[in-house]
Amino acid sequence: MNIQWIPRPQHVTQYGGVMTLCGDPVLRQDGSLPPEGYTVTLRGGTATLTYADDGGKYYALQTLARLRQPDGSYPCLAVEDAPQYAYRAFMVDSARHLQTVGELKAVIEAAAALRFNYFHWHLTDDQGWRIESTVFPQLNEIGSFRAEDGFGNKDGRRYGGYFTKDEIRDIVAFCAERQITVIPEVDMPGHTVALMAAFPQLSCTGKVTAVSTKIGIHKDILCAGNEETFETVFRILDEVCDLFPGELFHIGGDEAPKLRWADCEKCKARLRAEGLSGFEQLQGYFTNRVAAYLKTKGKRAVTWNESLKSGTLDNDVVVCNWMDKANDCVRRANSGGKVIEEDFFHYYLDYPYGMTPLKKTYTFDPMRKGLTAEGRNNIIGVEAPLWTEFVRDFDRFCYMMFPRLMAVAERGWTAPALLDYKSFTERAKAMLPALEACGVTAAPAGDWDPRGPARLRSLHAHRRAVFHANRTDRRTDDA
Ligand code: ACM
Ligand code: ZN
Repeated sequence: MNIQWIPRPQHVTQYGGVMTLCGDPVLRQDGSLPPEGYTVTLRGGTATLTYADDGGKYYALQTLARLRQPDGSYPCLAVEDAPQYAYRAFMVDSARHLQTVGELKAVIEAAAALRFNYFHWHLTDDQGWRIESTVFPQLNEIGSFRAEDGFGNKDGRRYGGYFTKDEIRDIVAFCAERQITVIPEVDMPGHTVALMAAFPQLSCTGKVTAVSTKIGIHKDILCAGNEETFETVFRILDEVCDLFPGELFHIGGDEAPKLRWADCEKCKARLRAEGLSGFEQLQGYFTNRVAAYLKTKGKRAVTWNESLKSGTLDNDVVVCNWMDKANDCVRRANSGGKVIEEDFFHYYLDYPYGMTPLKKTYTFDPMRKGLTAEGRNNIIGVEAPLWTEFVRDFDRFCYMMFPRLMAVAERGWTAPALLDYKSFTERAKAMLPALEACGVTAAPAGDWDPRGPARLRSLHAHRRAVFHANRTDRRTDDA
């Protein structure tokens, strides 16, 4: 029997013939299997499932369900399976544009079918704060709304909202049932205009008073010299940590320009008092202090790769490599730090298929040049983000995410020797109805690897969107 799903299992033994099941499947935990590993053996009318842990059990039962034929029979075979990487994630940006709980559940359902085990939820940014706070109501009353949608789509109407605590708990529980852990992201010290709009005194100038309607990198970042910044951030983290039981907690760290810090007496005083060599080290101080606070709460911090520029990042912090021209992440992994690969040019699903065709995503090898044997062990997995500046509605969301997320799923699960693009695209097509059943509609197959005029059309459409957004920005830019 042909296995027509993604990710491809590591090992299948065909016995030939079909059988009907006599009795319930036999389930047995086996501590000798690798994490999330399982076997499914179908022979002589019996289904025997062994599994390493809860993840393995979930995937064993999923496999059994997939092998059931429309007439109720099963092929006689054995599947032995376990993931290549321990960390397999998708990221959703709910700050730039919101999704409904139902839409997120559809994506989570599809991701579970593809065996993702982490959902990185980007919940705060310059353009909106999306977590209900009962401690700081201003985070929602002010921080969750921007004057208009912006980003080239100026219709003059206020845009925003946030996920209530009950909605967040519902999403976390829905994920847990599918062996997915949610990693919240509260981005800092940059990408915090929405936070500072609610707390202007936490900006270096004290003058940030409105949630941003612009895209791109913002000059205003949290003041690292002001003790109130840390006190407030810690109280916010207390509240957010209560909603997310997982160990990993993303604290951002990307795209934090140092212009305001360089002009700020408090930041300069902090730099001197801590004996720091420059403002990158001040970011290192900031990040390490927040990471240490999270550690007291049993959490482990995750950051974007810019946090490595300080040269002082605590070794326990997990680093997401999205754009690392200096190769800091290779050095980090080689010296014992854990790294997640989410390369901008291959895994950023908000970019058009003309720039990032499906094959390019599929063939990206997360094992970069320069990794030692230890370094390779420290690449814990892969993640693909969907940033939503230009993704306003769910049809577009699904079009951009699928099938490229299927390519990331197979890289995350299946051994490199078994990866084969032709087989992958055939199985991707065969799996589209299963994704539809989850509630997501992938881009049509003709758009997956555009060539010639189709590729140019895809690129031009994206450039037009960015151009219009930037034009709008210039008109609203108060900096
Ligand atoms: C990022 O794309 N700024 C992580
Ligand atoms: Zn400052």
